[in-house]
Amino acid sequence: MQKIDPTKAIEIRPGVWWLGWPDYDAGFSNNPYLILEGEEAILIDPGSRLEEHWSWVRKKIESVIPIEKITTVIVHHQDPDLCAAIPLIEEIVGVDNFDIITSERTALFIPYYGVRTQVTAITDGDRLEIGENGRYLQFITTPYLHFPGAFVTYDSKEKILFSSDIFAGFSVNWSLFADEYYVEAIKTFSQPYFPAKRHVLNFLNKIANLEIDLICPQHGSIIPKEKIPAAIETLRNLEVGIWK
Ligand SMILES: [Fe+2]
Ligand SMILES: [Fe+2]
Repeated sequence: MQKIDPTKAIEIRPGVWWLGWPDYDAGFSNNPYLILEGEEAILIDPGSRLEEHWSWVRKKIESVIPIEKITTVIVHHQDPDLCAAIPLIEEIVGVDNFDIITSERTALFIPYYGVRTQVTAITDGDRLEIGENGRYLQFITTPYLHFPGAFVTYDSKEKILFSSDIFAGFSVNWSLFADEYYVEAIKTFSQPYFPAKRHVLNFLNKIANLEIDLICPQHGSIIPKEKIPAAIETLRNLEVGIWK
């Protein structure tokens, strides 16, 4: 079992940090991420508002930057494990002192958590330029995986796909980086969560031409480049829409 310091973010690529917490009992790790580029500090899927979760994320952000420096929060869909903490961020940073980026459908639900900051809605293929060197984040919609308004984010500089619940895994044998057994964890998560294979194939088709060095899902383990082909084939061949 991998020991994780609950107070320190882990830099997984230059300027990109994992801020997550493992939950070995439930097999359900949660993985917020932070990107720093110039003056911009982008928080991805900040997570739950439970004290035992948020206290980890907060300390980990603060091990890198003061929370007040956050400029943008990206929320890939409306589940509480991604965005229930946003009002706690507002308490520190201030309402409308940072941007919230999500999809149009998700934007409907964000205020239900008590979020008062204005939400910016993306459409498929939109790019957010960050920093001064041409780096951008590209937003790719992933309908029905597992929400009609779900999307993922691609970082052009580090070639990371922040994949939200896609490539997520359930596993009590959690490790920060995927091992050879992680494909089984992907199956366990994806089979009941994704409603139909055509949506999975549509997604795989959309990312087929992206150069991806790292997949960072919102649950489970980070997938390094050499394990990405096996992860993709696992999804491609999986029978989904099954609740046993
Ligand atoms: Fe979800
Ligand atoms: Fe999730």
